[in-house]
Amino acid sequence: MTAMPRFPDGFHWGVATSAFQIEGALDADGRGRSVWDTFTATPGKIRDGHTAATACDHYRRFGEDIDLMRRLGIDVYRFSIAWPRVFPDGHGKVNTAGLDFYDRLVDALLAANLTPMPTLFHWDLPQSLEDAGGWLNRDTAAHFADYASTVAQRLGDRVNDWITLNEPFEHMALGYALGQHAPGHMMLLESLPVAHHQLLGHGLATARLRAAGAKRVLLTNSYTPVEPATASEADAAAAAAYDALHRGLFTDPVVLGRYPDLSAFGADELPFVHDDDLDVIATPLDGLGVNYYAPTKLAAAVDGPLPFTMTEYPDADKTAFDWPVVPDGMRRILVELTERYGDALPPLWVTENGCSFPDGPGDDGAVHDDRRISYLDSHIRAVHDAIEQGADVRGYLTWTLCDNFEWAEGYHQRFGLVHVDHDTQKRTPKDSFAWFAGMLAEQRA
Ligand code: NOJ
Repeated sequence: MTAMPRFPDGFHWGVATSAFQIEGALDADGRGRSVWDTFTATPGKIRDGHTAATACDHYRRFGEDIDLMRRLGIDVYRFSIAWPRVFPDGHGKVNTAGLDFYDRLVDALLAANLTPMPTLFHWDLPQSLEDAGGWLNRDTAAHFADYASTVAQRLGDRVNDWITLNEPFEHMALGYALGQHAPGHMMLLESLPVAHHQLLGHGLATARLRAAGAKRVLLTNSYTPVEPATASEADAAAAAAYDALHRGLFTDPVVLGRYPDLSAFGADELPFVHDDDLDVIATPLDGLGVNYYAPTKLAAAVDGPLPFTMTEYPDADKTAFDWPVVPDGMRRILVELTERYGDALPPLWVTENGCSFPDGPGDDGAVHDDRRISYLDSHIRAVHDAIEQGADVRGYLTWTLCDNFEWAEGYHQRFGLVHVDHDTQKRTPKDSFAWFAGMLAEQRA
């Protein structure tokens, strides 16, 4: 491999995780139940009935994990805060013992010279809020802002950088439209209010975070370059419709203060949008988080409730998840966002990028995950290409540190730089860990 090109001075490097996927200790210190506790306990929802009861036991082993981060040489750690640890009932009475955990975590990160970048919502909604309608209920947005404010008041003297939501599109699509994630609703387009209420929560929380002293507030979306399966007009329309739903719906309101044209979905009116909501949602941001994994190819739907259907990438290499490996998609999405939104676009951060491969320790005890090295190498180069083509990208955070609980896939998809034996909790840094550490050392030399 040729040497990695040099990134601009001050470029940030990190790893990203989320609470439910790594913490375990679901009953510890007064934590309430989340929608994911309920979903994982429902037969048939998670592959092989795996649960996140232990996950990576990070709640108890965070010191060991921070040690790994130090060895890796990163400077930013993106993690998420579990809302049900802070408000077991979603709102009302604060559980101080839950906040104490994040207090200890932040102190330990700072002691290791790592910048904490917490995400406030990474899908683990308190179950009692779901019982009142979850994100279909507008009140959830206000509860989210109160929760954000409470956390910032406790940690804001040490935490400068905050992410409000993680991938609100996936939460709506998988959780409320298709039933593949918690809370498991299958409402298809009836789930649209979930988009708006999350975005409203984001806007309300942004103001509250700033009031509590936040220096930088970001929103993290997933982005995927879309392409039509053929040159037909119908496939082009399908790709455009998907793009409006995935990118437009979660970006235009925040960056431009308006919703995209959703007429392809018969959603000409959005009755759940109240006067002034868009002003709240468009509260200026300090950064936009970009999670990129793979591109999406679309064809017109023959029939069915949605105007598109996803098609395959027959010639591309695939990860264990069967996601096509297309590094140029990373460059494309960063450049497309830059060109489309121009001056209105805040600085970009790659807040997730990574791949699942099943490699485990071989006879020599090492984990030879060459495919991950090649995935990361090619995608990081693509970020560099995007910067050269004018994208203002401030950091790259890989998903993820340790193999963890991959939602409906349970422990089957391994995205970590560190292998975890889920029976013993033994952590084994993979070859990709050494590669990443070496690449960072060269960047900093
Ligand atoms: C994005 C999500 O934010 C994260 O929770 C998930 O594990 C990765 N994608 C991989 O699927």
